[in-house]
Amino acid sequence: MRIVLATNNANKVQELKTMLKECSSVSGVSCISDTGLAFVPQETGGTFEANAMQKAVETAEFLAKNGYDKAMIVADDSGLEIDALGGEPGVDSALYMGRETPYTIRNARIIELLADVPDEKRTARFVCVIACIMPCGEKHMFRGKIEGIIAREQRGENGFGYDPIFLVPEYGKVMAELSGEEKNAISHRGRALGQMVEMLDAQDTPLDTFDYELAKRADNDTATETIAFDEIIDDLGIGCDELQG
Ligand code: IMP
Repeated sequence: MRIVLATNNANKVQELKTMLKECSSVSGVSCISDTGLAFVPQETGGTFEANAMQKAVETAEFLAKNGYDKAMIVADDSGLEIDALGGEPGVDSALYMGRETPYTIRNARIIELLADVPDEKRTARFVCVIACIMPCGEKHMFRGKIEGIIAREQRGENGFGYDPIFLVPEYGKVMAELSGEEKNAISHRGRALGQMVEMLDAQDTPLDTFDYELAKRADNDTATETIAFDEIIDDLGIGCDELQG
């Protein structure tokens, strides 16, 4: 089974490719740009679930129209929820203070906003929802999270985004001080992906024998239909299989 990652975020691609290397059901992992095509899926849903499924569906349809109809499409929507900020930046984590604003500046601002917040109220979590679409059209979603504390200073050189201010209590270190291996073992993305890998490993039908519904859908030109992401999510019964962090 080949996977195409429905993201252009190089940091996510690197983490997801590393984590999927060991999965025996997966024969190869590419991202959108590896196909030589350019496509930016939209994320207008307002929840991690809606955004992840929107990215997966839009990318699957775009790739099917361009001949990539036999891959499993995997999308990730993730972010940081800070309780003292009412859950912000949440689903807007990538846009917080402007997409181009360096994370050193965003992280410094968050530390400033929380300057008077006592330790016990500095709770936060990284959340990741992975949506995947099998070549047969079957859809799945998985949610992972990790609980932590917003630090009072930025530390560490690893990871990306908000990792320098996210203190992982059991390590006594911020995420950016953990190695890639340590982060992937406990992170929101690692936990969501772990559930996806369990699903793949449990398939009793060899995945490559599925008929390719997505290709048929592209042929029938259903790609122009409006997709109701909320209905897809309702159909899947999400809340998904949440793994406590
Ligand atoms: P999106 O899923 O592309 O909408 O954006 C996710 C955003 O959440 C990233 O651009 C980061 O700002 C933040 N984020 C998600 N996962 C991580 C992580 O593992 N470390 C640090 N920041 C993250």
